[in-house]
Amino acid sequence: MDTPETIKERVADLRKQINRHNHLYYVLDSPILPDAEYDRLMQELVMLESQYPEYRSATSPSQRVGGEALAGFEQVTHRLPMLSLDNAFSPEEVRRFSKRLNDRLNNQEERVFCCEPKLDGLAVSLVYEGGKLVQAATRGDGEIGELITQNVKTIRNVPLELVGDFPSLVEVRGEVFMTLEGFKKLNEEALRNNEKVFANPRNAAAGSLRQLDSKITAKRPLSMYAYAMGYVENTTLAESHFERLMQLKEWGFAICDEVEQKPNIESCLAYFESISQKRSQLAYDIDGVVYKIDSIALQRTLGFVAKAPRWAIAHKFPAVEEMTKVLDVEFQVGRTGAITPVARLEPVPVAGVTVSNATLHNQDEIARLKLKIGDTVVIRRAGDVIPQVVRVIDDYRQGDERPILFPSECPVCSSPVQRIEGEAVIRCTGNYFCRAQRVEGIKHFASRKALDIDGLGDKLVEQLVSEELIESPADLYSLSLSDISQLERMGEKSAQNLLNALEKSRKTSLAKFIYALGIREVGEATARSLAQYFGDLNPVMSASSEDLQRINDIGPIVAQHIETYFADCRNKALVERLIDQCGLTWEKVSIENAQRLAGLTFVITGTLETLSRDEMKAQLMALGAKVAGSVSKQTDALIAGKKAGSKLTKAQSLAIPILQETDARSLISEPSEQNFKRLIEDSSKGI
Ligand code: IVH
Repeated sequence: MDTPETIKERVADLRKQINRHNHLYYVLDSPILPDAEYDRLMQELVMLESQYPEYRSATSPSQRVGGEALAGFEQVTHRLPMLSLDNAFSPEEVRRFSKRLNDRLNNQEERVFCCEPKLDGLAVSLVYEGGKLVQAATRGDGEIGELITQNVKTIRNVPLELVGDFPSLVEVRGEVFMTLEGFKKLNEEALRNNEKVFANPRNAAAGSLRQLDSKITAKRPLSMYAYAMGYVENTTLAESHFERLMQLKEWGFAICDEVEQKPNIESCLAYFESISQKRSQLAYDIDGVVYKIDSIALQRTLGFVAKAPRWAIAHKFPAVEEMTKVLDVEFQVGRTGAITPVARLEPVPVAGVTVSNATLHNQDEIARLKLKIGDTVVIRRAGDVIPQVVRVIDDYRQGDERPILFPSECPVCSSPVQRIEGEAVIRCTGNYFCRAQRVEGIKHFASRKALDIDGLGDKLVEQLVSEELIESPADLYSLSLSDISQLERMGEKSAQNLLNALEKSRKTSLAKFIYALGIREVGEATARSLAQYFGDLNPVMSASSEDLQRINDIGPIVAQHIETYFADCRNKALVERLIDQCGLTWEKVSIENAQRLAGLTFVITGTLETLSRDEMKAQLMALGAKVAGSVSKQTDALIAGKKAGSKLTKAQSLAIPILQETDARSLISEPSEQNFKRLIEDSSKGI
């Protein structure tokens, strides 16, 4: 019989267990329970709490799934105002900041700083009374914010109850953000469901946090890193900011891993450089770093000006958004005929690079932006990607802007254009007749992942085509020394080098050859699967769409593109010419190997030493294996490189065999069930 006492104990026990596993999973990133078991614990708790309302609690981990929807957000005045930070954009500005500090402190000593990434999310303030989260609020205008307690409770790495030696009342501040991976998945799902996509992780985090229905917030992949304490009562706190962050960590908060103490301002600048290098590998967006004087005593002495502390500064990465004018819109024809509108811009420096073009993607994008020629626009450059138009500044319209007219014929070859139902792009129907498609096709053929013809860059291909020396990739192999050396800016030596490179490229692999043909949607991995599966080109050329779909990862659309490609007699003629006249050869792929790992599912994690995870994935897939993104009971083995984290722990908890990188390579070179069995037996014995 369940007595009230045993139920009360069970509820308490479940909460304790779930809290512990949450912490292991979301803060320490090393879970020990399979998801299914965690879900069972949570379900049992939710069930007991609904049956026995007397045992409900506002800090129960069941709150993570969200609660009743609100009609609107209540406002709340922060106990201490939430300040912002002054910005610096160059090392000089940072040094001036340091000098100001020293002048104010009346001595020129070196100072210890705490260096932290400036997370690109939203500031929140969390109040804990008696160790329980009682209130969460947005920053608002710094004085008054909005109450978002229910929503914040759904963020998995925010502790609902503190652990250890915490103060009776403490306000903790930090940034709520969405990881890039979470953002990508969220947008992919939105696309599938025909819902609105978010422009960037910051907007997605903001939109998720300001949901009136916390059940929606609960489904969004949000995280929080704590970066400061606000109002605190009754406790002794460390006298160093960095140590305080460590205290927060002990109470159960997640702190950004990149936080470091530095002995002086020059080492802060070195930190900036090293974070800039790392930026593209971080799992979340940051827009700079923050330097804070580490000594709390000095922070007190220095105090605040207006809305920012004197003792801290944000060293921002160069602006990635700028404003400029759209001078014209032109249409570019790609290798597969896709016609892309490109905005010609009044040149403007963005993050150190002069930008004069931006891609507009397609007609839908132009409609979404409501863009006209002559508009003033905001453009953004992120990393190495092509600059994008973010929005039109309506206020700057003059009235003489012109609409963007889409061509009804190809701007290069005048063939009619086609827009296929359900596709956003328009395409030139000229195929080989279109010079632009030919040029792009030859560039692709020569590119590194295809035939890798050294020295045959984009410019040179364009020159060769416009001089009418070549029309197709096959013509490359009948070029003579004099053909090439007569070109502008081409010496005899470079011409000879190109001939040598062409000669060398004759010996290739079947996979590279297939990839080089530039069949629509046939990337490197698909080309490799085709080569492995069929072993030779003839069976690929005569395969039906159904045959092709037997290969893992080839769906009906790709299969159709391949079938259509080889049904065209001009393509067949090109392939024959490349082989018979140009002498392209490759080693036969042993067809016996194809599909030898069919039926096995792997997960790859950690850092591999001899090849990238993608390469290993492609090699396994080419042998018919499946490679999944997460560990589950269906996983046959986990391939674990260096620094493997939560996936390794999960595989161990599910007793899934673990292979080292060398084991996986042995399996790829000898792909047999016997070898697989032997490898997992050895690994379980720790050999
Ligand atoms: S400290 C008084 N540390 O930047 C100090 N802020 O411009 C106030 N931010 O609203 C903030 N990462 O949203 C601090 N490591 C970090 C931060 C950070 C991001 C944001 C925060 C704040 C804004 C200030």
